[in-house]
Amino acid sequence: MMKNRVTAMLGIRYPIVQGGMQWVGRAELVAAVSNAGALGVLTGLTQPTPEKLREEIERTRSMTDKPFGVNLTILPAVNPPPYDRYMDAIIDSGVKIVETAGNNPKQFVARLKANGIISIHKCVNVRHAISAEKSGVDIVSIDGFECAGHPGEDDVPGLVLIPIAAKRLRIPILASGGIGDGRGFAAALVLGAEGINMGTRFCATVEAPIHDNIKRALVNANECDTRLMFRTLHNTARVFKNAISEQVFAMEQRPGGVAFEEIRPLVIGARGREALSIGDVDGGVITAGQVIGLIDDIPTCAVLIERIVAECRERLRASMQDFE
Ligand SMILES: Cc1cc2nc3c(=O)[nH]c(=O)nc-3n(C[C@H](O)[C@H](O)[C@H](O)COP(=O)(O)O)c2cc1C
Repeated sequence: MMKNRVTAMLGIRYPIVQGGMQWVGRAELVAAVSNAGALGVLTGLTQPTPEKLREEIERTRSMTDKPFGVNLTILPAVNPPPYDRYMDAIIDSGVKIVETAGNNPKQFVARLKANGIISIHKCVNVRHAISAEKSGVDIVSIDGFECAGHPGEDDVPGLVLIPIAAKRLRIPILASGGIGDGRGFAAALVLGAEGINMGTRFCATVEAPIHDNIKRALVNANECDTRLMFRTLHNTARVFKNAISEQVFAMEQRPGGVAFEEIRPLVIGARGREALSIGDVDGGVITAGQVIGLIDDIPTCAVLIERIVAECRERLRASMQDFE
């Protein structure tokens, strides 16, 4: 048991959150993380419709009686998914924790509060963290440049980002990006975070609902095996280095760059989903962060979480002794 504002607000044993992960954040993983004393988070848009999300929430409930959250990634898009209807599904289902990401959550915060829902907003810079706090979110999760997915365009790593955010915000912050073990957890706490958010590390667990080939590829990779795609489109994404991301990257380096329409067939979500499901490591975009360099095994979520907590305690104690 660890006690701080984050464990109290979220009703969990350890201040560890499994961030929303497209195609991966399904009931099996979420329930396993929550049962292990951390916070599992379902990925709303992994479900094709709001109705399917309601079913997935119920499926998760049948697998855990512990708190869990739902992520809604509200990226601006030409043809966005029906975000409002997904949010209706989350609220009507009685979910008590929501993680937003991708855009300012202010359109939803009042409704979340009115329904007694704790909101975690994930962002990638201090500006957005401050504006999320002003909008009334309860916890900010802040992703350093190391992270999987969208690190933004400022390229500030966690070692700088987290302490600045901790100084500037009054609400609790979760350090996210590049954390995969107890050393990272301890470092995050020392930097001023009150918990951690992890993505990639949870993909290499027994319960992650993806093919073993993908999990093994993450274990075998090192910290240089990610690629930043879409830099030229100002929508940077950190992903696993594979045939698809290398091809996209090469197209972006051409004189004059590349239009999104040209790369769309390579990067469409359905292709990534299929790659994860059949274990085709080169079949589509696979989101992963630099922390793959730290991943050496495929434990259950319970083993992983207990190990991270034990190592964090040991590191904090050992570093105190060094200074006595
Ligand atoms: C496979 C995968 C899919 C992801 N999909 C989403 C997503 O749909 N929405 C979101 O807000 N973040 C997404 N993320 C980012 C994570 O929630 C988290 O912020 C990030 O993984 C933290 O960095 P780390 O991987 O170094 O732990 C994804 C991450 C991974 C690994």
